[in-house]
Amino acid sequence: MNWTPSSWRDFPIKQQPSYEDQEALKRVEAELGSYPPLIFAGEARTLKAKLAKVGRGEAFLLQGGDCAESFADFNTPNIKNFFKLMLQMNMVMMYATGKPVVKVGRIAGQFAKPRSSDFEEIDGVKLPSYRGDIINGIEFTKEARVPNPHNMIRAYNQAAATQNLLRAFSRGGFADLNKVHQWNLEFIKDHALGQKYTELSKKIDRSVKFMEACGLSSDQVPQLHQTTMFTSHEALLLNYEEALTRKDTEEDNKFYDCSAHMLWIGDRTRGLTEAHIEYFRGIANPIGCKVGPTMGEDELIELIDALNPENEEGRLNLIVRMGAGKIEEYFPKLLKRVRDEGKHVVWSCDPMHGNVEKSSTGYKTRDFANILSEVEQFFAIHKRLGTVAGGIHLEMTGNDVTECTGSESCAITAEDLASRYHTQCDPRLNANQALELAFMIGNMIKD
Ligand code: PEP
Ligand code: CO
Repeated sequence: MNWTPSSWRDFPIKQQPSYEDQEALKRVEAELGSYPPLIFAGEARTLKAKLAKVGRGEAFLLQGGDCAESFADFNTPNIKNFFKLMLQMNMVMMYATGKPVVKVGRIAGQFAKPRSSDFEEIDGVKLPSYRGDIINGIEFTKEARVPNPHNMIRAYNQAAATQNLLRAFSRGGFADLNKVHQWNLEFIKDHALGQKYTELSKKIDRSVKFMEACGLSSDQVPQLHQTTMFTSHEALLLNYEEALTRKDTEEDNKFYDCSAHMLWIGDRTRGLTEAHIEYFRGIANPIGCKVGPTMGEDELIELIDALNPENEEGRLNLIVRMGAGKIEEYFPKLLKRVRDEGKHVVWSCDPMHGNVEKSSTGYKTRDFANILSEVEQFFAIHKRLGTVAGGIHLEMTGNDVTECTGSESCAITAEDLASRYHTQCDPRLNANQALELAFMIGNMIKD
């Protein structure tokens, strides 16, 4: 198929930095190319098999994490709170539906950001836009905004350490079902939502005790003692992804992007004749592609054929991000066409990126009511067409931030946003809002 890990270089490409020092860039790429992979191809195949179940409606996909990870916010509490929140949401949805939840973090590599403008202007000063810590710095200075290839090495190291901690939490006993109540986050515990979670953990406790009485204890049954958290990010900076692309010489001789288990293509870089499609068609990982309101029906079919020519189950996740006011107009016709052509696709809903607004107090925000409305419509449309609403894709944090307005559990107002607005890029659901949404989604799946 004339593909190599570097064949994307012959295609037009969007949303890339222009590095001044090309020699330094080449040295960094070579160095990254000599580093160990962050994941093993067999894990990517395992995720693909799980996603195949999601596509058939036998499991549910929960994908979430920061809009952009940063070097500054890299610490244990952040990773731990995120991990706890994912476990809580997992439990809530699993208990409501009786279906396994496939957990995929936007973590350990989610650094590069597409931007709506190449430049940012403040008080008459115009500088190149911030493109994520893997590329340049967020500070509004000329020096910080110069793309630095060495940031890729730092991003790799942070991703490796993050992945290591996630594996330790997943396998080392932290995720043991006997500890469900311990995953409740400090700042949620005493609120109504925390109590609702406590109620649930008591029920799970009783089930675990019952199974133990039957002779199935968590030290004998790994499923009760361990979990798996897969990693994912938008593979925007192809220099980084190419350097971590490796051939699996142990098993299938295919190329895998070993920077994460799953990679996705953003809504701004999914052009059919462009570099990102070229790169993605050659890697064997499960992959995602964002689908926004500008996607055409024929275009979508061509895109599916380019990315998944064998119509393999679990290979392709289409992440719908239309906006609460647009999903009903744009999504049903796409879904119907894909259904009628018999394409195997995992459909998930990103209710974040089509619902960005500016608050009256000047913050980039999203309102919980719009987020919930897009999710509800996504489920209703699938129900109407007899297709599978497979998953949810969220920007969220395990911390108590004030970035999105609304929700019953914390009712954040435009005035509240200033209090703990910490995001590096887009506004995230805080842990309360994310858990509240998980309870609601649990009910939607059950229906
Ligand atoms: C994102 O997921 O952070 C993102 C930029 O999304 P989209 O490509 O859908 O705008
Ligand atoms: Co975002």
